[in-house]
Amino acid sequence: MSIQPEIIIRPDGAVVQQAAAEYVATLIQKRVEARGAFTLVLAGGNTPRGLYQRLTDEPFHSQVPWEQVHVVWGDERYVPYADGESNYQMARESFLMHVPIPQDQVYPIPTHYPTPHKAATIYARMVEMTLEMGEGLFDLVILGIGADGHTASLFPHHPALDTSEDILVVAVENAPKPPPQRVSLTAATLSRAACVLFLATGAEKAEAIHATLHGPPDPYRWPAQRIQPPAPAGKMVWFVDSEAGEHAGVDRAVDRHHG
Ligand code: 6PG
Repeated sequence: MSIQPEIIIRPDGAVVQQAAAEYVATLIQKRVEARGAFTLVLAGGNTPRGLYQRLTDEPFHSQVPWEQVHVVWGDERYVPYADGESNYQMARESFLMHVPIPQDQVYPIPTHYPTPHKAATIYARMVEMTLEMGEGLFDLVILGIGADGHTASLFPHHPALDTSEDILVVAVENAPKPPPQRVSLTAATLSRAACVLFLATGAEKAEAIHATLHGPPDPYRWPAQRIQPPAPAGKMVWFVDSEAGEHAGVDRAVDRHHG
């Protein structure tokens, strides 16, 4: 049994980012209150930048117990951290430099090893340790989606999709979205989440969102379909703007929070 995603539609990108920030901040507060820690998996790409920036603003900067948050990444481009394409750099500049998450609780994917395969093997240990903090689940996994339906660095029809279930982190070669070399948590690992939050804006994402949510099961063509938090306790929420949600034929009946 897969869980029923919640779809939250907002008129435009700015309002979506604010709504997502409110959701994330509240979730961190609740789970830290309940168990004293929070494990957060960050998304890359451009869309989450707005969410991350809002989390550094008040009231979230003061309200959220940042000192109890542990951070890993869902994927990384295999470039130096100083590279403009680095997901670590984007999160550091827009978010991590501006909130008091202890540096030794931030675990970037290493990109200095000779190959992404070596980095994937090393990072798997960090992922395992982070999962153990949450009895086998991340508290929150934030993901984006590409117009082609990829999520993290899991691309349609890519050999990396066939990684065996016991592998937590996979090296990705020849990614269709540059840079070509990447490291990604597998779909099975990204699914080990108490909550998965997809964030997407813009008409170019509409087809992928519709196919992922409402199309026939085709997890090779639409890899985001592979992301399935554990039922019944797992949650999945999509924050989309009207363009991404409207053209996607998203079932507005499940939109309980239309702004
Ligand atoms: C990456 C991301 C990727 C991203 C989507 C959407 O490293 O490229 O992890 O999965 O989330 O490509 O990217 P945008 O947010 O830039 O549209």
